[in-house]
Amino acid sequence: MSDGFGRALVAGLARRPRRIPCRYLYDEAGSLLFERITRLDGYYLARAERALLRQASGRIAAMVGPGLRVVEPGAGAMVKTRLLLAALDRPHAYVPIDVAGPMITAAGRALAAEMPELAVTPVVADFTRRLPVPTDSREPVLVFFPGSTIGNLAPPAAVRLLARLRAAAGAGGWVLVGVDPVRDPVRLKAAYDDPEGVTAAFMLNLLVRANRELGATFDPGAFRHRMRWNAEAGRVEHFLISRRRQSVGVAGRRFHFRPGEAIHAEDCHKYPPAAFHGLAARAGLAPATTWLDAQELFSLHLLRQV
Ligand SMILES: C[S@@+](CC[C@H](N)C(=O)[O-])C[C@H]1O[C@@H](n2cnc3c(N)ncnc32)[C@H](O)[C@@H]1O
Repeated sequence: MSDGFGRALVAGLARRPRRIPCRYLYDEAGSLLFERITRLDGYYLARAERALLRQASGRIAAMVGPGLRVVEPGAGAMVKTRLLLAALDRPHAYVPIDVAGPMITAAGRALAAEMPELAVTPVVADFTRRLPVPTDSREPVLVFFPGSTIGNLAPPAAVRLLARLRAAAGAGGWVLVGVDPVRDPVRLKAAYDDPEGVTAAFMLNLLVRANRELGATFDPGAFRHRMRWNAEAGRVEHFLISRRRQSVGVAGRRFHFRPGEAIHAEDCHKYPPAAFHGLAARAGLAPATTWLDAQELFSLHLLRQV
C-alpha cells in the first residue's frame, strides 16, 4: 500500500501550524510502542475498556445474536477483539482493517490459529479513506471500533467516519464503539505524559520513520514531546517541539524551525456519554445500550441505525 507518508509530511510541515495526520505514527516500531503504552500503569484507558468489555460482553452477545461478521477498523494487536469474539455466539468472519500491516498480519494469523472456525481476513487500508467491507454481506455485521480511536479524529471527521461505520453495518447491523469520557487533567497527564517516556518515544518515532523511509534529516534528539490538555476543545494534544533553531531536509525540501516551534502530531478527543451520543446522532446512529464503568473511566456504546 502506498500510504502517502512523504506527501503528507511535506504538506504538513509546509502549513501553519505544522500538523501531520496521526495515522503515520503507526509504522512497525510505532505499533509496538503503542502496545507498550497500553501496558503502562498510568494508561487507564486500555485496562478500563478491557474490564468493561468483560463485564458487558455477555449482554452484547445476547443483543447482537449469532453468526456475525465482525469488522474492526484500527484493530492493532486485537487484544480486545479476543474478549469480544470469545463472548459472541459462533462468529462467522472477522475483518481487521488497519494501516499497521505487519501488526495485523501477525495478530490475524495468531487469532486464526486460535479460532480455526473463524474466517480471518486482514485488510491493510486507511479507514478515513475507505472501508473495504462488502455491503452485500449475508451475515449480520458488527463493526467494532474500540480504543477510543474515534477520539483521534476532529469531530466533523469523526461524524463522517461513524456514518461510514453505520453504512458498513447495514440496516440490520450493529456498531460498538469504545470511547474515553475522562476530562480530568491530572489523570490525563498521567496517561499521556508517562514518566517512562514511552509516549515521547512513540511521538518521536515519527521523525525516525521519516529519516528511514524518506531520507529526511531530522535529529530526533533536537525535538521533545509536549502533551497539552485543551479544555475548551475537550482534547489531549501532542506536539513535537523543536529544542533549537534548526533546518531539516525532507524529500528535496528544507524546513526551518525556530526554538520552541511545534509540529502537531495527535489529538485525543474525550467524550462524556451525552457528547458522544450527539456525535453519533449526527452520523445517523442511536444508542441501543451504553455501558460506563463505576469510576467513569471508559464507555462502550452499542449503536444502531436511527
Ligand atoms: C489507538 S490505537 C487502538 C488499537 C486497538 N484497537 C486498541 O483498542 O488497543 C489505533 C489503531 O488504529 C490504527 N489506525 C490509526 N489511524 C488509522 C487509519 N486512518 N486507518 C487505518 N488504521 C488506522 C493504528 O495503526 C492502531 O492500530
